[in-house]
Amino acid sequence: MRSHYCGQVDESLIGQSVTVAGWVHRRRDHGGVIFIDLRDRDGLLQIVFDPDRADVFREAERARGEYVLSVRGTVRPRPAGTANAHLKSGQVELLADAIDVLNRSEPLPFQLDEEVREEVRLKYRYLDLRREVMQQRLLLRHRLTRSIRRYLDDNRFVDIETPMLTKATPEGARDYLVPSRTHPGEFFALPQSPQIFKQLLMVSGFDRYYQIVRCFRDEDLRADRQPDFTQVDIETSFLTQDQIMAIMEGLIRETFAEVLKVKLPDPFARMSYAEAMRRYASDKPDLRIPLELIDVADLVADSDFKVFSGPAKDPDGRVVALCLPGGAELSRGQIDEYTAFVGRYKAKGLAYVKVTDPAQGRAGLQSPILKFLTDSAVAGILERTRAAAGDLIFFGADRAKVVNDSMGALRLKLGQDRGLVANEWRPLWVVDFPMFEYDEDAKRWVAMHHPFTAPVNDDPAALQAAPWLAIAKAYDMVLNGSEIGGGSVRIHRDDMQSAVFGLLGIDPEEAVRKFGFLLEALRFGAPPHGGIAFGLDRLAMLMSNADSIREVIAFPKTQTAFCPLTEAPTAVSEQQLKDLHIRLRLPVVPGA
Ligand code: AMO
Ligand code: AMP
Repeated sequence: MRSHYCGQVDESLIGQSVTVAGWVHRRRDHGGVIFIDLRDRDGLLQIVFDPDRADVFREAERARGEYVLSVRGTVRPRPAGTANAHLKSGQVELLADAIDVLNRSEPLPFQLDEEVREEVRLKYRYLDLRREVMQQRLLLRHRLTRSIRRYLDDNRFVDIETPMLTKATPEGARDYLVPSRTHPGEFFALPQSPQIFKQLLMVSGFDRYYQIVRCFRDEDLRADRQPDFTQVDIETSFLTQDQIMAIMEGLIRETFAEVLKVKLPDPFARMSYAEAMRRYASDKPDLRIPLELIDVADLVADSDFKVFSGPAKDPDGRVVALCLPGGAELSRGQIDEYTAFVGRYKAKGLAYVKVTDPAQGRAGLQSPILKFLTDSAVAGILERTRAAAGDLIFFGADRAKVVNDSMGALRLKLGQDRGLVANEWRPLWVVDFPMFEYDEDAKRWVAMHHPFTAPVNDDPAALQAAPWLAIAKAYDMVLNGSEIGGGSVRIHRDDMQSAVFGLLGIDPEEAVRKFGFLLEALRFGAPPHGGIAFGLDRLAMLMSNADSIREVIAFPKTQTAFCPLTEAPTAVSEQQLKDLHIRLRLPVVPGA
């Protein structure tokens, strides 16, 4: 049906007869001559239908947008002045000799170059994917996976599949469950990651494993989260944390060089979790934004301003300043908007000081809270923030969690709003995570990474003595404020693994019930091992400069975990439920 792709026809083919196939992108009737831009994966080709060829011309007249055609013709230069520099085929056109209408199309529910609601795009995703930008994104994703496989293959990693129907894995989200027909009342869980299986493959001696694999997590969705998403999952044996990190850095560096022709720094910057929280109030700081939080609790602890002195004296409190260069020009209304913005993160207010002339101290400042601050506090704040004339200093004071959530978010928002986000790639390793964190909702300690992560100090007794001070051999790779990967060195001895389960409040019986097979495997010569998993969707999103991972997934789900195309999830028949030994608490939808 074709000899060439539309987008590949160029001057080198002038005078030759070629056959192309594709979709009618545009049809223009120029009084007697018909032009059709035919589109395929590689681009557009302008085809000219001359009325001299009456039969071919008549067919072309009947063609409409998105009809599928095969056209044979002769390549010729476009008339002078009509060339299109944006197209590879822009210097030439095809003079049609024959046309075959392979299929017709009803008018599309939306024009391909039209902005439409995402719900509509997802309902007709197969049409949305005809758009050039979407084709480019999925092709980039393909080049990305190809490059990742190439690097891992060169570095002796073995691609091994692990089960989808399995047992719950503890990545911290809710599981998707699949009822078993053959085991009444019992359920498989879809994997939140292949974590335990990849560790077992190290016990088996495969040494280096990888898999590009779907993972399933029933969690609240955001722009960078999907219920089913793809990990580049990796595990290695007999390597130290630094060695693992070096190989993984190499993977991302080579992939960026290959796919985007971008040279990332070598080595990547590293920052401890504590420093990231202190300076950026985030465990995934966006280093493109040159704003930092400055602790000032010690300066305001004795002030009469309870809003500051309360949290300043509270061990769980935090008081920070955030200096915005040029911010003194912000209007009252804009400051009110930022106050409302931090309110979404439970901040009770957003104190600020406008700096007109820092050399004059108090006299060179404007602020409703100035009267509450001592001269030495004012001097200390100006010195630490290095505020200059025309700047504005924001303050956050509350429990540390509220300050971090609100001021961390404000930092990102100011970066966006004020055009402070540098156009560059800023990869970063965040390391030295605490082993455990307190889950305020569940009111219990949880593993900050997952329960198989090894502590820096490999003595179980030391861990038990002061568990909440323990640092993990865990590492996250962060790129431009997005967590693109996370991993750790694992516990490879059953005594340590049992100790960690104990600290997490998993009693020995429960540990055996849930992870007995892993504990047992650790007793049969488990090698020291560790690994990482990258979020492939997030990587593809960043690389294609998209603002949601849905833009780089062929058939994604909405924010409510619904697929507008297939309308999944759907009700099922009474008979199917019966086969699965399930009786619904809700009434069954009639006719399903
Ligand atoms: P973690 O839970 O950090 O680690 O996941 C690894 C990476 O997967 C991506 N990711 C997601 N992407 C899209 N939608 C989601 N819902 C989603 N959840 C996570 C992120 C994240 O960095 N088993 C461990 C890895 C290990 O220790 O080796 C794990 O799954 O980019
Ligand atoms: P108030 O005394 O409540 O009127 O607050 C005085 C100033 O402090 C206002 O600008 C408030 O926005 C700000 N403010 C109040 N609570 C906080 C807080 N927890 N952190 C930072 N600023 C606050």
